[in-house]
Amino acid sequence: MPDPSNAQKDYEKVFDLSREAKTLEGISMVLEWDAETYMPDGACAIRAQQRELLAGIIHEKRTSKDFHHALEKLIDLKTGAVIAEGLTERQRAALREWQRDYRIATALPTAFVQEFTKLTSDAQIVWRDARANNAFYLFEPWLQRIVDSLRQKADLLGYSENPYDALLDLYEPYARSTEVSTLFGSLRTSIRSLLDRITQAPQIDNSLFKGNFPEIAQMEFAKKLLEAVGFDRAYGRLDVSTHPFSNAFHPTDSRLTTRIDVSDPVSSLLSTLHEFGHGLYEQNLPANEYGSPLGEAASHGIHESQSRFWETRIGLSKPFCHFVLPLLQKFFPEAFTKATPAALFKAINRVEPSYIRTEADEVTYTLHIILRFELEMDLINGTLKVKDLPEAWNAKMKELLGVTPPSDTKGCLQDIHWAHGSFGYFPTYALGNVYSAHLFESFENSFPSWQESVKQGDFTCIRNWLRDQVHHQGRTYAPLTLLKKITGKKVTSDAYVGYLENKYSDVYSLT
Ligand code: CO
Repeated sequence: MPDPSNAQKDYEKVFDLSREAKTLEGISMVLEWDAETYMPDGACAIRAQQRELLAGIIHEKRTSKDFHHALEKLIDLKTGAVIAEGLTERQRAALREWQRDYRIATALPTAFVQEFTKLTSDAQIVWRDARANNAFYLFEPWLQRIVDSLRQKADLLGYSENPYDALLDLYEPYARSTEVSTLFGSLRTSIRSLLDRITQAPQIDNSLFKGNFPEIAQMEFAKKLLEAVGFDRAYGRLDVSTHPFSNAFHPTDSRLTTRIDVSDPVSSLLSTLHEFGHGLYEQNLPANEYGSPLGEAASHGIHESQSRFWETRIGLSKPFCHFVLPLLQKFFPEAFTKATPAALFKAINRVEPSYIRTEADEVTYTLHIILRFELEMDLINGTLKVKDLPEAWNAKMKELLGVTPPSDTKGCLQDIHWAHGSFGYFPTYALGNVYSAHLFESFENSFPSWQESVKQGDFTCIRNWLRDQVHHQGRTYAPLTLLKKITGKKVTSDAYVGYLENKYSDVYSLT
């Protein structure tokens, strides 16, 4: 008979070793954050060496003999069956995820990982050059090598249906490409038809956002905004970077960045709210689980559901426009003195098909993601040749968004993800929208008067609800199980499409 008190000791051993690796990851993130914000350009090469060294040490820790031995006392590493007795449900859930992480970490030989890292870091340099000079032919052989390596990676990781599943699973655990395809297919049809109706309606005037919005004022505004929504500055901070991101070193240090465009105050407003959503999730993860999977976010899709919840469901809502207008008037009196909440609501929700994903509005954004998902599936499955990518990209842009990019720079070369080797990442952006719509329905049922609170600048009920329902769960449940537990529903496109149709029928007075 296994002794339950031994099981607790063994569990603590696994937790301690895992916490060491997590602590090193936090240290590596400090270096990454610094590189994106304050590091002088000249420090680039040695910083890369520092991070490579740490990455190697972290990988060794996560795959060490010690860790293996400690883990296999509790769980069968092949089948994932928990063999120890007397563990709690939470501990069993943590073991399930530890086993998953260990399987992934040990599936790839060190030589493969090193080669892939070298390939993608060289490819990123070529991609930058290709993008700057609209020269896809420079990037093409590199992308070909990346696609080939990813096929190999998928084989090493293993999959049952489609090699793409192995890659998708790295970002959205337990997701299957067939399910994502079905979901996206339905989104594609509904959003396309909504977009057709919108583009036939008279366009909204957004001259409200024209003017000069100095960087210092925008940064002060962003900080006030964070204070208002409840970002705890004792446990995080806001800085500026070219691409906004959030990076949590650990639960008591969440770093956010925003981008500032002096001709556009909305970009920073929405990216600040977006990154706040990510940062709040990290701040609210259970601190006593720091170092175990239960102290980590459930998936990229769930993470994105949190950022999109704050950015779109709250930030682009009518009550939020009521709340934020006086703040905009205070910081940018020239542009906003004569504005009304109704005019702000319409202008901030203007829809316009464009070439660039990161500048896309709420309606067209998901179409940009579907385009990437379909193309990267075809590339991995070999049904699309890398050399034919620009043509396929432009054809899909025309089909989905009705526009044709004037160059590959504004087309298939715009995102870094493929140069980075991150196939399987894009779908999580759209899953985030779909998940946030499901969560919002449940939230609204619990707090039907949320609009009144938001108008008055009180966001407590939103923060608390997300904390209890989502953040505190960590990785206890697989993403879809977590959503089912919270909402009682299976994930479909209905909630998100219904939301878009209702809202944009109002914004564009569609009949
Ligand atoms: Co995000």
